[in-house]
Parts: sequence; structure tokens; C-alpha cells
Amino acid sequence: MAAIIKTAEEIEKMRIAGQLAADVLTMIEPFIQKGTTTNELNRLCHDMIVNEQQAVPAPLNYHGFPKSICTSLNYVVCHGIPNDKALKDGDIINIDITVIKDGYHGDTSKMFVVGKPSILAERLSRVAQECLYIGINLVKPGARLGDIGAAIQKHAEKNSYSVVREYCGHGIGAGFHEEPQVLHYGKAGTGETLKVGQCFTIEPMINAGKKNCKVLKDDWTVVTKDKKLSAQWEHTLLVTENGVEILTLRPEETIERFISHI
Ligand code: MF3
Ligand code: CO
Ligand code: CO
Repeated sequence: MAAIIKTAEEIEKMRIAGQLAADVLTMIEPFIQKGTTTNELNRLCHDMIVNEQQAVPAPLNYHGFPKSICTSLNYVVCHGIPNDKALKDGDIINIDITVIKDGYHGDTSKMFVVGKPSILAERLSRVAQECLYIGINLVKPGARLGDIGAAIQKHAEKNSYSVVREYCGHGIGAGFHEEPQVLHYGKAGTGETLKVGQCFTIEPMINAGKKNCKVLKDDWTVVTKDKKLSAQWEHTLLVTENGVEILTLRPEETIERFISHI
């Protein structure tokens, strides 16, 4: 199925939604401390999105998801549900924020570490972010989705990590999850061809151990089968005439908002 090409007006709305989602991740950083519960993080993000941004937290009630953000701790791969357990030293946590503003979605996530991370946790988180950046750097009109998946898979496996297969990036816009699916593994030169004006996410989930996952009895929380750590980073992107614009970029990042290949 084909990607939706956005109009100039829609792209402006995507920029605004993307910026708001990025701002929530920036806001929450100082609160990632031992003793804080993920419910508290959920409340802080929810209140900022609803009261300051006058936007909507997309996860809340999405196919029955019970909270406003996803908080995925240690061996949780994605879709972790905020709860009353306190963060502890050495935990790694992905916070995934999706806001809807003026009918359009911005979707982004990053890893945080609580206190001092283990060498493995730090390396896993860094390699997962590198996987995202490697994928972003390949985005331009005419590139194939398989090029992105293959490069991400190669970088993860070179570091003896594995790529989760069951969950993927996605087109995004008026819909939370639009066509196409953006796999984080695959074969270069295959898959859909990217077109100017399409928006999608790249959000690799990288496991320290084996790729296999399972869903817990709450029907949401995805964990690694081997209980080893997992890390994920996500950006919402726009395909431009000459490359890519990162719609959810944060000030702390070293990558540029506009990447041009001409
Ligand atoms: N934000 C996730 C993504 O990147 C989706 C979360 S769906 C939810 O696609 F229901 F768990 F919130
Ligand atoms: Co997403
Ligand atoms: Co997300």
C-alpha cells in the first residue's frame, strides 16, 4: 500500500506536532531519577501535553492503552505501561511520546539511564541510537525502505545485538499508524521507494540478546524472551526534495534537522 503524500499545510502541522512531542522528551529528562515512578512521569507528560500544549496524548485509549505515554524499562522492548514502581539506579528506560495537535501526530522516543548505567546498557543504548541515525541518513526520494532496514540490521548485528522483528516504524500524519510499515531489517534495493512529502517514523528496537519477544498478560507490555536488555530510539521524519527533515529533533542532538544529499 502506498504512502500518503502530505500537502504544504499538512507538513506545517506535522512540524508543530513533532516539535511538541520533542519538547515533552526534553521536559521529562530531569525527572528521570531513582525513586520516581513511571506513573509520575506519565502525569507530568500528560499535564504538559493537555494543559500547556493544548494537544492530545495519542496513546491514551489507543486500542485500549490505559496511559498517556509508554515507559519501557530494561528488558521491556516497547509499549510498557506506566505504574507505581520506583525507578532504581542503573535502570534504562525508553519514554515514547506521541501527541496529536490540530489533527496531526508527532511520535518520538529516547532512552534515559537512571544514575550510573552498566557498560552494556550504555553501549546498547548508544548502538540503538546509531541505528536510528544510520537509517535517517539514508532517507531521500528514490531510496528504498529495504535500504534503511538492511543498514540498521547490519549495524546492530555487527555489534552482536539483534533487531526486533514484530514491531516496526510506520507512516504517520492524520493517522497514528499509516502505511507503509518501516522494517528495521531487510535487504537493500527492495521495498517501497520513498517519495517527497511522505512522513514516517524510524524506531529500531535493539536487543542485547536474542531477537525474540513476547507480550505480557496485560496485553501490551512487550518483553525480550531471554530477559536481556532492549533499547529503542524514534524520530518522525519528512522526505524532502534532497533528503530528510527530522520533525522531532531535540536541541541536545548532534544530528542536523535538515540532511541534504545534493
Ligand atoms: N508510540 C508507539 C509507536 O512508536 C505506539 C504506541 S501505541 C500505544 O508507534 F498504544 F502503546 F501507545
Ligand atoms: Co512510532
Ligand atoms: Co512512538
